[in-house]
Amino acid sequence: MRVQRLSLRDFRNYSAADLDLRSGVSVFQGKNGQGKTNLVEAVYALAHGRSHRLSHLSGLIRKGADSTIVRATVVSGDRSLNFEWEINREGPGRHQLSGNLVKALDFSRSLSVVMFAPEDITLIRGEPVARRGYIDDVACSLSPKLRGTLADYDRTIKQRNSLLKSLRLNRRETTDYNTLDIWDQKLVSLGAEIVTARENTVSLLRPFLVNRYATISGTNDDITVTLHMSVTTVDAPYAQSFADQLRERRADDIDRGQTTVGPHRDDLNLSLNELPAKGYASHGESWSFVLALRLAELDLKRSHGPAGDPIVILDDVFAELDSQRRMHLAESLLGVEQVLITAAVEEDIPESLRLFVTRISDGKILDESVA
Ligand SMILES: Nc1ncnc2c1ncn2[C@@H]1O[C@H](COP(=O)(O)OP(=O)(O)O)[C@@H](O)[C@H]1O
Ligand SMILES: [Mg+2]
Repeated sequence: MRVQRLSLRDFRNYSAADLDLRSGVSVFQGKNGQGKTNLVEAVYALAHGRSHRLSHLSGLIRKGADSTIVRATVVSGDRSLNFEWEINREGPGRHQLSGNLVKALDFSRSLSVVMFAPEDITLIRGEPVARRGYIDDVACSLSPKLRGTLADYDRTIKQRNSLLKSLRLNRRETTDYNTLDIWDQKLVSLGAEIVTARENTVSLLRPFLVNRYATISGTNDDITVTLHMSVTTVDAPYAQSFADQLRERRADDIDRGQTTVGPHRDDLNLSLNELPAKGYASHGESWSFVLALRLAELDLKRSHGPAGDPIVILDDVFAELDSQRRMHLAESLLGVEQVLITAAVEEDIPESLRLFVTRISDGKILDESVA
């Protein structure tokens, strides 16, 4: 699929921008802080319902404005859809698909994006939350309604934690223990659903990842990815084990005012030649791993995602890579219908990808130049 036309109103540092986009590769070049990431973030956010670098949607609204509108015409095969997303500082937002009011989920069902960004190095070097975010995003792209299950789970954890804190102060309120039982049951059923989706996604990703890593690194290094569950399941099914462990840890959880077991503590184990990538992989190996994770995501969304062939965004990633990885990445993207690349330094991008370059300066999109 591809975005044919993109319009932004009061989005980040753009007051108004209207842009026709081609199929194939487009490069957006500009100095730092001009709005390159903001531009591609609009496409990413449309597909994911959130920013890749900000937890509050209101940050997407231009400073001083009350609302923003992102519009995109997306072409997929012979189908064309008009996406329109309004975000308001006060009050709810609004999603429209070709003129009909829809839910955010419906955008994810019809628009697929894979983005590579410099912050992706946290997939290897960062905390578990980055890797959970990755696997959950991929899992949600296969099954968009999982997004709701994850939100429900997070809400329940917050409710349970605040109850734990109040029990710590006042241990004799028996009705509160009944409420705790209810939260626990809810966590167990939502958690089982989340873990099943994660496990399923990891097994689907694995063969793509191994393949992509071999190509990107040009080695026979052995890489593995597994889901590291916080709940230990030795001889009981997941739900039973999770329920048991919540009960066993209840007193401890009350002391800490926190839920110490569950999918919110899961991680992905990524290893290279039997050593954890985190802490052992070199800078270059870590980047090969990151590229392989994103390319595997592309492969999986393409083969299993409901929305079809993803649009690929490379936000300032070539600057992070050596010349061999740049070349391999460029080759890996052959056949992708639309690739949007941003860079501060044009020469960082392999020449084969630099046919059409658009300059960006201070929230304005200047004319395209053709090589
Ligand atoms: N909500 C906002 N309103 C106005 N300006 C913003 C907003 N969010 C970010 N910016 C500005 O956008 C610029 C960064 O744009 P960005 O796309 O990240 O730059 P780059 O071209 O380096 O990728 C900064 O100057 C920042 O202050
Ligand atoms: Mg940027």
